[in-house]
Amino acid sequence: MTTHTIRVEPIGAEIQCREDQTVLDACLREGIWLPHACTHGTCGTCKAQILDGEVDLGDASPYALLESERDEGAALICVAQPRGDVVLEGEVDMDEGVGVHPVRDFRARVDSLEEIAPDVRRLVLALDEPMRFNPGQYVLLDVPGGQQRPYSIASTPSNGSLIELHLKRSENGIATDGWVFSSLKAGDEVTLSGPYGRFSFRPLRTQPILLLGSGTGLAPLKAMIRHIDEDGGEYQVTLYHGVATKDDLYDREYFEELEARTDWFTYRPALSRDDWNGRSGRVPALLAEDYPRAGGNVAYICGSPDMVSDTMKALMKARLFPGTSTARTSSTPPTAPRAPTWCAVR
Ligand SMILES: Cc1cc2nc3c(=O)[nH]c(=O)nc-3n(C[C@H](O)[C@H](O)[C@H](O)COP(=O)(O)OP(=O)(O)OC[C@H]3O[C@@H](n4cnc5c(N)ncnc54)[C@H](O)[C@@H]3O)c2cc1C
Ligand code: FES
Repeated sequence: MTTHTIRVEPIGAEIQCREDQTVLDACLREGIWLPHACTHGTCGTCKAQILDGEVDLGDASPYALLESERDEGAALICVAQPRGDVVLEGEVDMDEGVGVHPVRDFRARVDSLEEIAPDVRRLVLALDEPMRFNPGQYVLLDVPGGQQRPYSIASTPSNGSLIELHLKRSENGIATDGWVFSSLKAGDEVTLSGPYGRFSFRPLRTQPILLLGSGTGLAPLKAMIRHIDEDGGEYQVTLYHGVATKDDLYDREYFEELEARTDWFTYRPALSRDDWNGRSGRVPALLAEDYPRAGGNVAYICGSPDMVSDTMKALMKARLFPGTSTARTSSTPPTAPRAPTWCAVR
């Protein structure tokens, strides 16, 4: 397979990239960290300027990369493949204190697979060797038939050989309905790569932390909570977990036990449909009630695009603004076809 040289400005690093490989993949495998979120051309986070050379723009959503941006030489490097030597300008920055872990391929065995809520499964994978990652990052799971799907890691880097994922069934979905919820079983071999994503715990931000998740958006937040617990609970953490009914509230015992055991963790389940003896309402509404002023906190949000956007609006009303302390969205425009039911913000 022909390979080409990619030079990444402004750092001037040079790497090799195969013609059938994406530019982002080649960079991440060499430890050159460039912004990315969905890794399949729909969110626009990985937009970079091609200064010289030619790339095949691949399967970039026209909503994430506008025609005018293409004309001006922009590319979504998570889907762009080189057609010659390329020079690109990317935003090579990482928050202080956040590790950069090159992406690698792994083989794994399904250690366990269990139903933890209606249409939600916990998949634990035993990797052939430990993965190094930051709490909050995700893996790309190879699905039989050649596709890949991103899933957040819910476990901590302290045991990088055993990773936990939470999967929600999508009706007629290739990875979930067609595989994890139908034929996958304990002992099966799978392959995956990782770690990916910028949505990860920022250890140097010592302000009180708001973790705001809905559904399986809990997964990366659980990784952060477990990591903080392992490190001795040096932060004040409040978790809101939004689901529809009490049955959907998975891992409740774990969080209740943690809340009872420590003085740094508060658990606030938010049920949108059930009448129960706890609080009812969606996460953004409960947040608005509890935090008329939220400035001085750090927020991590993970859930459906609607949940993320409504939660960000609630935070901004409470004077916690993206950029000043917390958030940066990677959501897919709602009009995009097949918009993923997931997006993440920090
Ligand atoms: C960074 C990131 C992290 C993620 N982490 C998690 C996680 O921790 N847990 C989790 O559960 N999910 C997570 N997701 C979502 C996950 O990656 C998958 O998108 C989800 O599991 C659905 O995959 P699937 O293959 O089952 O469905 P897909 O086959 O991708 O289909 C998704 C939905 O679209 C419908 N569809 C398929 N084709 C079409 C079409 N042509 N037109 C219209 N509709 C169509 C399907 O019926 C289905 O309902 C994450 C996503 C991202 C981007
Ligand atoms: S990471 Fe490339 S478009 Fe989302």
